[in-house]
Amino acid sequence: MTGSDAQYVAQQYSTDEALRLRIETHRQYGIGSKEDLFVRVTRLMAGRLAPERVLDIGAGTGGWYRAIRQSFPDRVAYTAVDQSSGMVAVLQEAVQQDPLGRALQADADALPFPEATFDWTGAHFMLYHVPDISGAIAEALRVTRSGGLVAAATNAAQPYRELWELGDWAACELGRLGAQSSQRVRFNLDNGASFFPHEPERIVWEGGFRFDASEPALRYLASGPIRHHLGPGADEAQVTTALTLIKGRIDKIIRREGSFTVHSQSGLFLLEKD
Ligand SMILES: C[S@@+](CC[C@H](N)C(=O)[O-])C[C@H]1O[C@@H](n2cnc3c(N)ncnc32)[C@H](O)[C@@H]1O
Repeated sequence: MTGSDAQYVAQQYSTDEALRLRIETHRQYGIGSKEDLFVRVTRLMAGRLAPERVLDIGAGTGGWYRAIRQSFPDRVAYTAVDQSSGMVAVLQEAVQQDPLGRALQADADALPFPEATFDWTGAHFMLYHVPDISGAIAEALRVTRSGGLVAAATNAAQPYRELWELGDWAACELGRLGAQSSQRVRFNLDNGASFFPHEPERIVWEGGFRFDASEPALRYLASGPIRHHLGPGADEAQVTTALTLIKGRIDKIIRREGSFTVHSQSGLFLLEKD
């Protein structure tokens, strides 16, 4: 991760606002299975191994926590870690009434737990942010017991294809395409297996968005992704110009086709610890 990527991650997750907006966009405009992705992940893992202790690395706003509690309301100890103090505060509030829940601030590359502490260890939609992805997976495996499961949900290399293409197009119009080094998701469904010590199982789900107006799509882009397209040096005026250009294109598609559909894939890597 470059210095600017680290800054982007720190700023993105200093509060839960941007992440909540994106989760809400999924809830309202998501296509594909209506079942929550974390419910799917939990059910799939529960079919392999009944857990007693679960670790959620880079837990964010606790999406996986809620799915785990849906399946296991009053058993299974749940531990969340996140490097952002803002996220940890949100997580602590979420587990406040839960005698089997806890949330701590920690980094994925140095987890404050002894070896073989957990039955399930998840690192969902977060490995693309860590500087040493293989190192973080090795650390997840270290704290997982033998026979336990390490799981990592992630996106396609170019998630939300049509939105991504519009973001790149606008960056190009502003002479800024290539300004940002991480145009592809670093840990993605195509390359993710190569970061594991042996071949993990790979499960893929089709999804995306269908928007009937441009505003929610623009809010989604403005919550962070547009800065990825424009690169770290972009100023507010360039962000506004890019969003205005994109709005014109989306409005035109909606007038022609009635809606703007964005395709994406997400999925899960699953590895049983030897
Ligand atoms: C896209 S969010 C995903 C949150 C949650 N896992 C989910 O899927 O909803 C990424 C999260 O990873 C956290 N994060 C990023 N780098 C991290 C690191 N090196 N160690 C621990 N957490 C990290 C961020 O603070 C953020 O909460």
